[in-house]
Amino acid sequence: MPHVNDPIPPAAPAPTPAPATGGPTETPWWRHAVVYQIYVRSFADSDGDGIGDLPGITARLPYVRDLGADAVWLTPFYTSPQHDHGYDVADYRDVDRLFGTLDDADRMIARAHELGLKVVVDLVPNHTSWDHAWFRAALAAGPGSPERARYLFRTGRGDAGELPPNNWQSVFGGAAWTRVGDTDQWYLHLFDSSQPDLDWRNLEVNEMFQGVLRYWLDRGADGFRIDVAHGLLKEESLRDQDHVATSIASAVQHESEGRDPHEEDPDEEERFQVGAREVDEPMWDQPEVHDVYRSWHPILEEYAAMAVAEAWTRSPETTAAYVRPDELQQTFNFDWLLAEWDAAAFRDVITTTIDATRAVGAWPTWVLNNHDVIRSVTRYGGGAAGLARARAATLATLALPGAAYLYQGEELGLPEVDVAPEHRQDPLWFRTGKVGRDGCRVPMPWGGSAPPYSFGPGPGAPWIPQPDDWGALTVERQEGDPDSTLELYRRALRLRHEFATDEAGAEVELLDLGPQVLAFRHGALTAVVNCGASDVRLPDGELLLASGPVDGRRLPPDTGAWLRG
Ligand code: NOJ
Ligand code: MG
Repeated sequence: MPHVNDPIPPAAPAPTPAPATGGPTETPWWRHAVVYQIYVRSFADSDGDGIGDLPGITARLPYVRDLGADAVWLTPFYTSPQHDHGYDVADYRDVDRLFGTLDDADRMIARAHELGLKVVVDLVPNHTSWDHAWFRAALAAGPGSPERARYLFRTGRGDAGELPPNNWQSVFGGAAWTRVGDTDQWYLHLFDSSQPDLDWRNLEVNEMFQGVLRYWLDRGADGFRIDVAHGLLKEESLRDQDHVATSIASAVQHESEGRDPHEEDPDEEERFQVGAREVDEPMWDQPEVHDVYRSWHPILEEYAAMAVAEAWTRSPETTAAYVRPDELQQTFNFDWLLAEWDAAAFRDVITTTIDATRAVGAWPTWVLNNHDVIRSVTRYGGGAAGLARARAATLATLALPGAAYLYQGEELGLPEVDVAPEHRQDPLWFRTGKVGRDGCRVPMPWGGSAPPYSFGPGPGAPWIPQPDDWGALTVERQEGDPDSTLELYRRALRLRHEFATDEAGAEVELLDLGPQVLAFRHGALTAVVNCGASDVRLPDGELLLASGPVDGRRLPPDTGAWLRG
């Protein structure tokens, strides 16, 4: 039996990486998979309460199958007070009534399997909800108790403990500590105060989560998306973050880039980044976190399941450490969505990603959108140009080796929505007054010409209002229109099956079609994306697909193409 505060046992030496290209073993389903992310609240509402739910998802799964995806990833649907829309879990083994019941979850999984879709569920191990039985017991039990030892309670600074124990800031703004009443005790929360961080040095915590893994695997889940995968272990001392070191480093970086070091840091504009790439981060990406994934690896193997890490770390190499042969199977490649609309930036991410994943014997993944970042259409400039660029970037994404993650609505070309302040619900907005992530979480427009665009069964308003001008973006309107974004995705995913194979390998060959052009060959497929301002001559090869009109062999700006050969 593991004991509270036992150290996590040292990891066994990592086995030699398996060769990245095929081999005699069977290809695991996730290696080349296209995983479609469903933001549960916003996909489809079955009961007219304006909030998406599991029966709504089940009914719409054929749409995901017809799109050509291989798997769905569902954001958390477990019992939760919903302060961070389910990323604050009160019971990891039940379904929130807002979204349905356990039977609904079973039916959803069974229907997905019937349709040939794998199911990835979200695991939130860094923190629980403050409504979780463990946290309630911790508050009731008092300082020094085994109940409190499951979380990170510490004594405050100042004469009466009236100051937070250290200087860490919450990702959602403000101090990362909340005081327990007027005692000298505080608890750590790297996110909202409703999300107390667990103490992963307490082995009881890992034991609980291993049980949760098995629980969902036994119910038929095929994999997990691991929330804040790089945050579970903090530097044991919980010492102050050295902001001085951090700001000196960013000033040096500015100077080396030829910028005035006092100029406002453009990174600060970034709306959300869990764990920045700062110099001193005692709260993120600690070496011991890898022992947790080594301890999960045999369980995942036993069920032939996978896990994908949400790990915002410092570099492609530190990110790839999560997919060493005895750890997890995949990690999101956030560099790809952080890259600007710039051929050199895209090339750089491709090279560094493939080098780093190859070094550990893993395959890469690619992602342009999720429920935490500004939608690619808007990120790339918005309007017609933003849409054209997002479509072109999708062709690059889907041509690269490894897995691709899509986020619901990107296949419709949805832009970020400027949600009115009275409708904003992101904890980031409540804690800091910054806009937050609601704009990429607006419910799906399925049909009709006015809100709620068949999101639910009746005229009821969805939890975030949809724009009045989305009539032309609905699934119904785009289906069958060869120029629509939906049909572009469908064609691309259909063709992809031919090219995304072990034989095509995990490598790409970058082609030089000029500095403003991203061009590469992956197996039998050549992808070209024109990020410049003038037309580009396409290389030889059969033109299979283009993200916009192509005049003969000339690829216009903001357009991507696939060629055979
Ligand atoms: C990352 C999730 O993607 C995000 O939505 C959530 O707010 C944080 N983790 C905290 O769980
Ligand atoms: Mg509902």
